Amino acid sequence: MSFLCAPMAELSHRALRELIEGFGGCDEYFTEMISAAALFGGGPFEVWYMDSGPRPEKLIFQLVGADIEQIVKAAALLDRQECAGIDINMGCSAPLIRKTGAGVAWMTSIDRAGELIGRVRQAVKRRLSVKLRIGFEDDFDYLVRFCRRLEAEGTELITLHPRTAGEKFKRKARWEYVGRLRQELGIPVAGNGDIASAEDLLYRADGSCDAVMVGRAAVRQPWIFAQARKTLAQSFTNENAIEETGLRFLELLARYQPPEFHLSRARRFFAFFCDNLKWGNYLKNQLNREHDLPGIERVWREYFREHEPA
Ligand SMILES: Cc1cc2nc3c(=O)[nH]c(=O)nc-3n(C[C@H](O)[C@H](O)[C@H](O)COP(=O)(O)O)c2cc1C
Repeated sequence: MSFLCAPMAELSHRALRELIEGFGGCDEYFTEMISAAALFGGGPFEVWYMDSGPRPEKLIFQLVGADIEQIVKAAALLDRQECAGIDINMGCSAPLIRKTGAGVAWMTSIDRAGELIGRVRQAVKRRLSVKLRIGFEDDFDYLVRFCRRLEAEGTELITLHPRTAGEKFKRKARWEYVGRLRQELGIPVAGNGDIASAEDLLYRADGSCDAVMVGRAAVRQPWIFAQARKTLAQSFTNENAIEETGLRFLELLARYQPPEFHLSRARRFFAFFCDNLKWGNYLKNQLNREHDLPGIERVWREYFREHEPA
């Protein structure tokens, strides 16, 4: 059973991977979605998106895009980097992505999605996977037909986040679809959605899927995989460790992300990580008023001195 760290925009970058690795790591790290179009713009940030550290052999690059030619070209480029695989995003339901024909919009046409995968398959040697949702309707038969076509075109792993395109996090993920889908396909199926603790992770790793992917909880608890593997005590989360882990993240962010990304990435991370604290919402607001990493570090340290002394 493999444990996977989910692709999350502005969160699944090298600093988070380093942090998780420091606790013992997981089996595969998916990058945040990388825009196929942006990879060829000659922009200054490509090198950061293409950083596969610290464990390239566990790294899966995720591509998002709407144009078949662009995605094929980008996949071929990433395939030449040191990594374990290429993933195509057919699940993102953010309106801005969907409107362009990318993300979950691929799920509207089995033929077009099949054509994309067939073309990417010819262009890459590494493992090719797809991350998707149930689709636009709650229609399991359509999902099976869609995934069978992806399999026929050469997809080697499917990650199912079992919600429809329109469903937000409030609606529970339909995990029963993960096991059912696996029975219909000849390739491995990973399940994803609503894992909140190491216990949840173990509960979902019950044999009805081949891998379990964790998103938000891996940001709140970068130690979640280690706890599930029982290499870390269940009682790990004391305030001391929270303060240190936050400081370590800031160090890693400064080292492994460009200055232009520091503020947005720090805010994203702490929006989840502060949930470990009693006055986490108050602290999030305080942190959001800061405009650079030193300011964020100062407020973070002050909080522990004033509110949660060790
Ligand atoms: C902030 C954020 C950014 C995300 N970005 C991506 C992304 O870039 N690609 C993708 O396939 N899914 C993305 N997702 C969806 C997650 O990969 C995952 O499917 C979802 O959060 C459900 O898993 P969880 O309940 O373990 O968080 C994102 C989710 C969040 C919360």
